[in-house]
Amino acid sequence: MHHHSHEIKMYGGIKLYAGTASPDLAQKIAEYLGEKLCERDIVLFPNDNLFVKLHTSVRGQDVYVIQTTSAPVQQNLMELLIMLQTLRLDSAARITAVVPYLCYGRSDKKDQPRVPITSRLVADMIEVAGADRYVTLDPHAGQVQGFFSIPGDVLTASHLIVDHVNQAIRPNLKDPVVVTVDLGFAKKGRNFASDIDAPIAFIEKRRVTNNAKAEALTIIGNVRHRDVILVDDEIDTGGSIVQAVKLAKESGARQVYVVFVHPVFSANAVERLAALPVTGYITTDTVPISPEKRALLGERLTVLSVAPLLGEVIRRAHEGRSVGEMFNE
Ligand code: R5P
Repeated sequence: MHHHSHEIKMYGGIKLYAGTASPDLAQKIAEYLGEKLCERDIVLFPNDNLFVKLHTSVRGQDVYVIQTTSAPVQQNLMELLIMLQTLRLDSAARITAVVPYLCYGRSDKKDQPRVPITSRLVADMIEVAGADRYVTLDPHAGQVQGFFSIPGDVLTASHLIVDHVNQAIRPNLKDPVVVTVDLGFAKKGRNFASDIDAPIAFIEKRRVTNNAKAEALTIIGNVRHRDVILVDDEIDTGGSIVQAVKLAKESGARQVYVVFVHPVFSANAVERLAALPVTGYITTDTVPISPEKRALLGERLTVLSVAPLLGEVIRRAHEGRSVGEMFNE
C-alpha cells in the first residue's frame, strides 16, 4: 500500500482565541503550541452588554476558543457563547470550545422537585452558539458527556496530579491513606489511591435532620497514625474540606494533604483553608487564583499547569490524531 509522505492539511494552521477568564493559562497553552493568541476585542458596554470583534478572518480555519467558566460565571459563559457565535458567523470551518472548568456541573440531575438541570442547558447553549466540538477537564459528573450531542474530549488532570504526588510527596509519607471527601468521589479516589500505591478510606456524609447544614460525618476506613491525602474534584466554599480535615485529625491522622482539580475558591474559602492544619494543597490552573489568594496559602500551595495537556490535545485534534493514545504513552 502506498503511503503519502506529505501531511494532509485540512484547514491550515491552528487558530487560538482566548476569552478574558484565564489569560495566563491561555498564554501557556499558546506557548506550548508555539502559537500566538489571535487578536480580538472583547468589550463590556456601559449597559452590561458584551461585544466581540475578531481582528482577522477565520474563514475556513480550525479554531479553538479557550475560556474557563469560573466567576464571574454568567459573564464568562456569555463571553464564550458570543465568541463562538462570532467565529461561526465569520465562517470558521471547525470550532472547538476549550473549557478547562465547566460551570454548573453540580446541577446535573433533578435531585428534588421543581429544579433545573443547568449543566444540560450550558451544553445546549455552547452547541447552539456554534461549537462543533468541546474539550473539558474533570467535570463533576460523567453524564455531562451525554448532555452534549457534539463530540468532545473529556479529560482528567489525574495523571498530572499522580505524577506530582509520586515524585514530590509520596516518598516523605509514612503509611499514607487516600481519603475521599464524600462517597460521590469514591471511584475516582479508588483509582488515585492505586496510582500512588496507598490504601483508601471514605468520608460518609449523612443528613441528620431536614436542616441542610446538620450533617453527621463518619470515616469508613483507618486513618489513625497515618498521613492522609484528602481528594476531591473541586474546592468551592471550602466547607467540605474544613469538615473533612477536622474529622481526619480527630480520627488520629498525622499529616494531611489536600488534592483537588478545580480551585474554585469562592467566598472566604482561601481564608478558611489557610487556617487548617494542612501540610500542602495541590491543585491545577483550570481556574485562575489571584495573587492575594496565593499569598494566603504561600508555599503550602502547589498549582500544576494543565496547559501542556490541553495544548497537546489541541495539537492532536487539529492533526486528526488520537487523544486516547496520549495516556498510554
Ligand atoms: C461536591 O459534591 C463536590 O465534590 C465538592 O465536594 C464540593 O463541590 C466542594 O464544595 P465546598 O468547597 O463548597 O464544600
